[in-house]
Amino acid sequence: MEFFLDTADVDEIREIAAWGILDGVTTNPSLIKKSGRDFKQVVREIAEICSGPISAEVTAIDTAGMVEQGVALKNELPPNVIIKVPCTPEGLAATKILTEKGIDTNVTLIFSASQALMAAKAGATYVSPFVGRIDDTGHDGMELIAQIMAAWDHYQPSTKVLAASIRHPTHVLQCMQLGAHTATMPAKIFRQLLQHPLTDKGIDSFMKDWADVEAAGNA
Ligand code: G3P
Repeated sequence: MEFFLDTADVDEIREIAAWGILDGVTTNPSLIKKSGRDFKQVVREIAEICSGPISAEVTAIDTAGMVEQGVALKNELPPNVIIKVPCTPEGLAATKILTEKGIDTNVTLIFSASQALMAAKAGATYVSPFVGRIDDTGHDGMELIAQIMAAWDHYQPSTKVLAASIRHPTHVLQCMQLGAHTATMPAKIFRQLLQHPLTDKGIDSFMKDWADVEAAGNA
């Protein structure tokens, strides 16, 4: 399973990349706004830190505009940048054209299994169902991942399912159990997934015993 960071904060990306397990990064206009930095400059820096796919989102809402922006971003930015487009009729048409041009895509803002399958049919490299935003409406976002993975079992598209809008570690564990290909999450969740009090306690205990071994001259 791929683990992506969902952030445009390069310090956080450097921190998690240093762990050696970062597979990619997703950004969106809201994350770029939060960074307070120039869009292309920050995506360039991210693409240097992480060699995996880096999603950069188009802001046009018409097909021609999305394709024009997507091609321009691919030409101006490092080769591991992929183009994020919204799941609309215009976005699907743009996905098909970008795919025919050999440009990888991430179709975003997916809230139903039918949207996911249609984006896959358009040739999307990734589809991004938003789990947490469904939970926010009082429904079960993880049920959407289950529905999509069931459809993927039937039809086996090559498109990867990228669970997004991840809000807590349990979302990631459920994604693992359902076989989602990728999860994108904030740095806080990477830290929560790795931390365990028994690991910390075990290290403390080993360090104390090793100090005794050294004190006895047996190191
Ligand atoms: O990158 C898209 C998605 O992960 C956004 O998450 O927390 O804004 O719903 P959130």
